[in-house]
Amino acid sequence: MINKTVLVTGGAGYIGTHTVLHLLLAGFKTVVIDNLHNSSQIAILRVKKLAGDFGNNLSFHKADLRDRDALEQIFVSTKFDAVIHFAGLKAVGESVQKPLLYYNNNLSGAITLLEVMAAHGCKKLVFSSSATVYGWPKEVPCTEEFPLSAANPYGRTKLIIEEICRDVCSAEPDWKIILLRFFNPVGAHPSGYIGEDPQGIPNNLMPFVQQVAVGRRPALTVFGNDYNTIDGTGVRDYIHVVDLADGHVAALLKLDESNIGCEVYNLGTGKGTSVLEMVRAFEQASGKKIPLVIAGRRPGDAEIVYASIEKAGRELKWKAKYGIDEMCRDQWNWASKNPHGYGSQEDSTD
Ligand code: NAD
Ligand code: UFG
Repeated sequence: MINKTVLVTGGAGYIGTHTVLHLLLAGFKTVVIDNLHNSSQIAILRVKKLAGDFGNNLSFHKADLRDRDALEQIFVSTKFDAVIHFAGLKAVGESVQKPLLYYNNNLSGAITLLEVMAAHGCKKLVFSSSATVYGWPKEVPCTEEFPLSAANPYGRTKLIIEEICRDVCSAEPDWKIILLRFFNPVGAHPSGYIGEDPQGIPNNLMPFVQQVAVGRRPALTVFGNDYNTIDGTGVRDYIHVVDLADGHVAALLKLDESNIGCEVYNLGTGKGTSVLEMVRAFEQASGKKIPLVIAGRRPGDAEIVYASIEKAGRELKWKAKYGIDEMCRDQWNWASKNPHGYGSQEDSTD
C-alpha cells in the first residue's frame, strides 16, 4: 500500500476517470474535484465499483477550481502529496468563439490551484498539456525541444500554463512540476464501464466515429483528403487512454526524485495513423460500416503529428502498450454497452 494522497482536478472527465482508477489500484488515496461541467458523477460511482476494495480510498467534491474557498477547505481537510491537474475546457472550436470563457476557466483555474497548493506547502504537480503546442510541426516525430505555438485560444491556455509552471519553478526551486503533452487519447477501459462521453456534437475523430456506429449520426465527415500522407487524410498519434493513465502513475513516481524542477514529456505511441486507417480499424473491431463524406480541410489542422517517445521511455520508464486495434476494440465495447454515454442507464448510488 502506497501511503500517499493525490488530488485529481477534473477527475470525473474522460482521462481523469481512467487515471483515478489506476491510482486507486496502485494504492494511492485519491480525492477528486470536478464541477461536472463536462462529466457525470455516475462516472465516479463506476470508478469506485471498478476499483473494488480500493474504491473506499476515493472521495469526490463537486466544486469549481476557481472557487478558492472550496479549494481551501479541501486542502485544509486533507494533506496532499501531489496534484494531477486535468480540469479545463478543451473544445478548440468553442475556444475560438468564446476566448474569454477559456482564458477565465483554464488560466484562473490553474493559477488558483497553484496559489492554494503553495499556501499549503504542496508543491508537486502533474499538468495535462497537449500536442497542440507543437502546432504544424516542421518535421516528425515531435521532440519535447520543438518550437511551440498556438493556433487557437485553447492551445494558448496550454502554452501559457506551461510558461506559468516554468516561472513558478524558477522562482521557487522546491516546486516539482511535470508537464505531460498528450497526443490523441482514444479507447476506453476494457470493462466497457467507463469511457468518453462528450456533450453535444463531438469535435474529435473517434467520439464522432463511435456515434456514427451506434446510429446517433449518419456519417463521418473526413476533413481533407489532399494532405501529403499515405492516403491523403491527416495523420495523428492515437494513444489508448489506459496507457495515458499509466503514464500519470509513472509521472507521479518521477516527482519523488530529487532534481526535477519543471520537466516536460510527450505521452504518445510514436506511431502515426491516418483518418482512413483509423476508420478501417474501427470498422474491423465493431463490424459496423462507417459512411464517409469527404470535405475540405478543417482550419488549423496540421498534416502529420506524432510523438518522439524516447524521453518518456528513458526518464519515466514508461511506454505505451496498446495499438489501434485494442483502442478500437475497447472504444466499441464502451460505445455498444453505453450508446448514450453515462445517460444510457441508471446506476444505483449504493
Ligand atoms: P474532459 O472534459 O472529459 O475532462 C475535464 C474535466 O474537467 C471535466 O470533468 C470537467 O467537468 C472538469 N472541469 C472543467 N473546468 C473545471 C473547473 N473550472 N473546475 C472544476 N472542474 C472543471 O476532458 P479530458 O479529455 O479528460 O481532458 C483532460 C485534460 O487533458 C484537459 O485539460 C485537456 O485539455 C487535456 N487534453 C485532452 C486531450 C484530449 O484529446 N482528450 C488531448 C490533450 C490534452
Ligand atoms: N477528423 C475528421 N473528422 C472529424 C474529426 C476529426 O476527419 O469529424 C480528422 C482531423 O482532421 C484530424 C484527425 O481526424 O486529421 C484527428 O482529429 P481530432 O479532432 O480527433 O484531433 P486533433 O489532433 O485535431 O486534436 C486533438 C484535440 C486537441 C489536442 C490534440 C492533441 O482536439 O485539443 O488532439 O492531443 F491538442
